[in-house]
Amino acid sequence: MPGLASAGDDTTALAVRALKAARGQFVSGEELGRALGLSRNAIWKQMETLRQLGYQVQSIRGLGHRLVDVPDVPLPWEVMDGLATRRIGRPVWYMDTTTSTQDVARHWGQVGAAEGALVVATEQTSGRGRMRRPYFTPRGGLWFSLVLRPARPPLDILALSLAASLAVQEGIRAASGLTAVLKWPNDVLLGERKVAGVMVEFDGDQDRLHQAVLGVGINVNLDAEAFPAELRDRATSLKLELGRPLPLVPTLRCVLEALDRHYERFLEGGSEAVCLAWRSAPNMLGREVRVISPPDTWEGTAVELDRDCALLVRLASGDLRRVAAGDIELLPGVERLSPRA
Ligand code: BTN
Repeated sequence: MPGLASAGDDTTALAVRALKAARGQFVSGEELGRALGLSRNAIWKQMETLRQLGYQVQSIRGLGHRLVDVPDVPLPWEVMDGLATRRIGRPVWYMDTTTSTQDVARHWGQVGAAEGALVVATEQTSGRGRMRRPYFTPRGGLWFSLVLRPARPPLDILALSLAASLAVQEGIRAASGLTAVLKWPNDVLLGERKVAGVMVEFDGDQDRLHQAVLGVGINVNLDAEAFPAELRDRATSLKLELGRPLPLVPTLRCVLEALDRHYERFLEGGSEAVCLAWRSAPNMLGREVRVISPPDTWEGTAVELDRDCALLVRLASGDLRRVAAGDIELLPGVERLSPRA
């Protein structure tokens, strides 16, 4: 696939590692040639490739090559070096631009990519959200999809989506110190505004999931003006809340590491384990909500999550109504949690 940088780009990864190991000092072309199994000429070309990827490399004849700066781009080796996960983010494919990482991940999954394989893009031209709605994914955010093959019944898909939103919440906290709030089923909010969303698309039959593609979108460094007018009141970014940009690669790693833990828990304990974790994380329970579940729209208080991760809403009559699918709007109310830790 054109424009795809994969963990299999061994020479590029080796070149970056060899330069990083020198900690800002020059490495001779001869030494690099030995480490990479390349001629000196090929090393000059390799340095050019690194520059095209955004690395600042100083090359001086007689002295060699020295790494001056590393781009904040989720290139496979930048994401994977030091990544503390068992299966999530192994391997990584990176693209500058694609239509939707969901489609790329689904394809790679179907042709045998390992479980946990990650597809990440700097921008998407046809990003989509739940229910195939268009999703805004310009430069400055983290947009990625994971190939998963959970040995769980298709009914557990809702729990997988909740587990992923818990992981995003945890990753955001680790990377930024901000405490986000979970809004059932798949939104992550700062204050009342959406900062991230997750979705799961799957291929399977009634009894078994063959493959699930988990999609995650996080508004990391988006500026207020970047959002289309219709999103400005409802969306935010980590940069807007923090008042400074956050580096993408460390943020991605924090989220992947949290996903690894939450995915493991989901595999072992299914919906019930996810539901327990979700209930004890900062969430929207207790809020007045509008439930939009076409053709119905109704209001009540979100009171609980049941063991299948469906939302229980108390009506004015006192009756409880169970919501297993649909959209929730939070009605104006007292903000229960401050975004700052
Ligand atoms: C939602 O809130 O409705 C889910 C949003 C998921 C967006 C991500 S961005 C990466 C991946 N590729 C897509 O086209 N969508 C998901």
